[in-house]
Amino acid sequence: MIPVLTIDGPSGAGKGTVSRAIAHQLGWHYLDSGSIYRALAIACLAQKIALEDVSAVVEIAQSMTLAFECKEALVVLLDGEDITHQLSMETTGNTASIIAAIPEVRAVLLQKQKDFKQPQGLVADGRDMGTVVFPEAEYKIYLTATAMKRAKRRYKQLIEKGIDANLSEITKEIKNRDKRDTERKVAPLVPASDAFYLDSSDLSIEQVIEKVLNFIQ
Ligand code: DC
Repeated sequence: MIPVLTIDGPSGAGKGTVSRAIAHQLGWHYLDSGSIYRALAIACLAQKIALEDVSAVVEIAQSMTLAFECKEALVVLLDGEDITHQLSMETTGNTASIIAAIPEVRAVLLQKQKDFKQPQGLVADGRDMGTVVFPEAEYKIYLTATAMKRAKRRYKQLIEKGIDANLSEITKEIKNRDKRDTERKVAPLVPASDAFYLDSSDLSIEQVIEKVLNFIQ
């Protein structure tokens, strides 16, 4: 039995930072499922594929090869090319959210995600980790925060990276993305019925990590 911890929730809730820290502390593998949808978005944008062209998007999803290399930071290679920098761009996230609503795309990417379940354990972060990809997981968390808090965190991250940002624009994009991710027909963002619901609006990252570790123990 390989233990799995799923952390699902809307964008900007802190899933990535929390999941990486927990995986590191436990010595488990880490699946950033959003990066798979993001990589597909980058491939589609690079090849100028119309996002409505389902068969073309599916073909890319089937043929793309992804490699995750843990150097000082995580490096992601798409068909051998380093796409780490493009992964965190806003256009990438928004395009990923659009193609993630295509059922055939989700079907193709399902096994790629399941393959991350390896000894000694896995921390998987995304939208449907506890509901669709690893419904059998022993530990499930739904991590959320108000849209305003999430937008402010994102704004701060961008400014710290020296990227120009506009708070009201980011809030609007976060709300649009929430709407798309929660209202899509396949694998929408919903808490699994057996998930521990955690609102991080008034918590620091350290406090969230502590709560998650307590939950597991
Ligand atoms: O977690 P993220 O912001 O990197 O994800 C980008 C988009 O990918 C998100 O808006 C919806 C999609 N996604 C998904 O549909 N299912 C997942 N398990 C992870 C991400």
